Amino acid sequence: MPSKPAPTDAKTVKQVEKLRAELRRHEHLYYVMDAPEVSDAEYDRLMLELKALEAAHPELVTPDSPTQRVGGKPKEGFQKLAHSRPMLSLDNAYNEGELRDWDRRVHELSGSAKVAYVCELKLDGMSLALWYREGALKKGITRGDGSTGEDVTTNVRTIRSIPLSVSSETAKKSKLGGDFEVRGEVIMPIASFTRMNDEREQQGLSKFANPRNAAAGTIRTLEPNVVAQRRLDYFSYFALTPDGTEAFPTHSEALKALTAAGFKVNPNHRYVENIDDVWAFINEWEAKRDKLPYEIDGIVIKVDSIRLQRELGFTGKAPRWAIAYKYAARAGETIIEDILVQVGRTGKLTPVAALKPVFIGGTTVSRATLHNLDEIERLGVKIGDWVVVERGGDVIPKVVRVIDDKKHPRGTKTFRMPAKCPECGGHVVRTEGEADHRCINAACPAKLRESILHFTSRGVMNIEGMGESLVNQLADRGLVKNVADIFDLTEDKLLSLERIGKKSAKNVLDEIEAAKQLPLERVIFGLGIRMVGERTAEFLAEHFGSMDALAAANEEELLQVNEVGPRIAASIREFFEEPANIKLLERLRKAGLNFKGEKKERGTQLAEKTFVITGTLPTYSRDEAKKMIEDAGGRTSGSVSKKTDFVLAGTEAGSKLDKARELGITVIDEAELLKMLKN
Ligand code: IVH
Repeated sequence: MPSKPAPTDAKTVKQVEKLRAELRRHEHLYYVMDAPEVSDAEYDRLMLELKALEAAHPELVTPDSPTQRVGGKPKEGFQKLAHSRPMLSLDNAYNEGELRDWDRRVHELSGSAKVAYVCELKLDGMSLALWYREGALKKGITRGDGSTGEDVTTNVRTIRSIPLSVSSETAKKSKLGGDFEVRGEVIMPIASFTRMNDEREQQGLSKFANPRNAAAGTIRTLEPNVVAQRRLDYFSYFALTPDGTEAFPTHSEALKALTAAGFKVNPNHRYVENIDDVWAFINEWEAKRDKLPYEIDGIVIKVDSIRLQRELGFTGKAPRWAIAYKYAARAGETIIEDILVQVGRTGKLTPVAALKPVFIGGTTVSRATLHNLDEIERLGVKIGDWVVVERGGDVIPKVVRVIDDKKHPRGTKTFRMPAKCPECGGHVVRTEGEADHRCINAACPAKLRESILHFTSRGVMNIEGMGESLVNQLADRGLVKNVADIFDLTEDKLLSLERIGKKSAKNVLDEIEAAKQLPLERVIFGLGIRMVGERTAEFLAEHFGSMDALAAANEEELLQVNEVGPRIAASIREFFEEPANIKLLERLRKAGLNFKGEKKERGTQLAEKTFVITGTLPTYSRDEAKKMIEDAGGRTSGSVSKKTDFVLAGTEAGSKLDKARELGITVIDEAELLKMLKN
């Protein structure tokens, strides 16, 4: 069935190479340098152009092409692979004394009076080795037991900060050459972690405990598509030759070469000449670590000279030439004095542990989330229990387990979810199949406060200055009864409140004015529609191009939007069917908020045609095919029915294909779809 590929001419070859070079450059700028030059849309356009050319000329596809990040899945789990040399762990120092002892030993054993070190952040992830041959990424291997790891290459390829290839020119310039090994850390940034957990919560899946578990779990999943969506990152810290020896005479030179070759090296490292400067670095980062977008659990200190490293050698499992200074664990033990219930903006009731205050990693913690009733049951927590509480980067403190031993008597009082909302007395319900209890009173004041705080928060309308204290006052005095009231605030109204002067009133009003410039997706996100997070709001804005089109969309139309399933579609419809919300929207429109966005231009090649995609396609992922169909005016659906016009089938297509045959629906393959798109 596939159409015959078009003959390849020199011009096409050139164009393909040009596109690849451009895409690689943009990937490096975006994922490694954090300094993009073009919009995501422009990047996507280049990528689609390259994909189309490669699909028409399959013989031009190379494994290091930027289109080849997501490939087939590893069939039966991962193969075991021996490391070029063991991936060891590090000895730890927990205080200044232990650190200085180590420095003394380094001096004694090496017989050197002067030893220079490199201090690096100890990234809380999972170490990973990358093998490059002739400039191309050949293998990505987990640490495993240190001597043997697992071949997770298919997943590693989806991490955009890992180059799929290093050009011979760059390899030469950086002095890395074409055959080398890189070792470093895979991490999941806190933002990706929270987003992923939010999405998992919405989908009713269990959440990951912390970014390290999430990174380690993700790199070992058997679905490269899933890995690609989870946004992992990779920081390199060793450059080795293929036999596992150091490629450079000093560690700092290795870091420079890795940077020059396009690898991401954590910029927060420092070359120092004595242990006092090491100690200063440790203290600096202890104070700043909460501001990092990823988690660290300490500082790694490495002897800079490789000659000295060799002289110092290894103990059983760790090098003598490096040590990990571990920051005090950000966990503490305390007693649960009570379990309170908080009401969120969607009416969700969250049980919160009221703790006997405990000092954890620089702050006093007196509250910790217990998420929901299922979590309380999973932990087996009772009021009066001793528990371990953990605090991560941006994450709210949480109860991780109950302590059950002789010293810590168990609590006796079982928590019960209230039948009435603790804020308004409204009915509390738990929908079948959902973990959460909710207050269903639309006028619940707690919902109001939370929905305003959500609307004004940084990722949404970004109205700085409208924090908790101001919002509480505005809500209590009835000055703000919904988010539209924010735009009717005046200097006089603000000045009538406590602790607000002329200057801060003006600032708040300026910020409110500025919010009117924000794009449509922020406004959609700000409405606080249940299950519509930041990402879904983006997809909706892009798909419908205006608030009006979104408000008018029926369930079927909503289901065509990326990542919108029946539950989200129903929640959106519910929102726009509520007359109070329609009134609110009209006021927001009058206030001058952005109700128009940029709708993605759609073709008409597939207008009015409904597709069902099934199985694995040879070049495109299902999401990409869906996008291409929709961009061409077609529709996609998840199930085959009489209304289906085409079933797009790849390999391993199952029951949907059978159903299509049964109903006599035309089955096409990827090549045929591409042909239809061209016409
Ligand atoms: S060096 C033999 N550098 O910490 C040298 N490790 O506790 C071992 N880690 O397994 C690795 N950041 O997963 C090194 N800048 C860094 C690191 C780092 C995080 C992890 C790595 C290692 C573990 C040892």
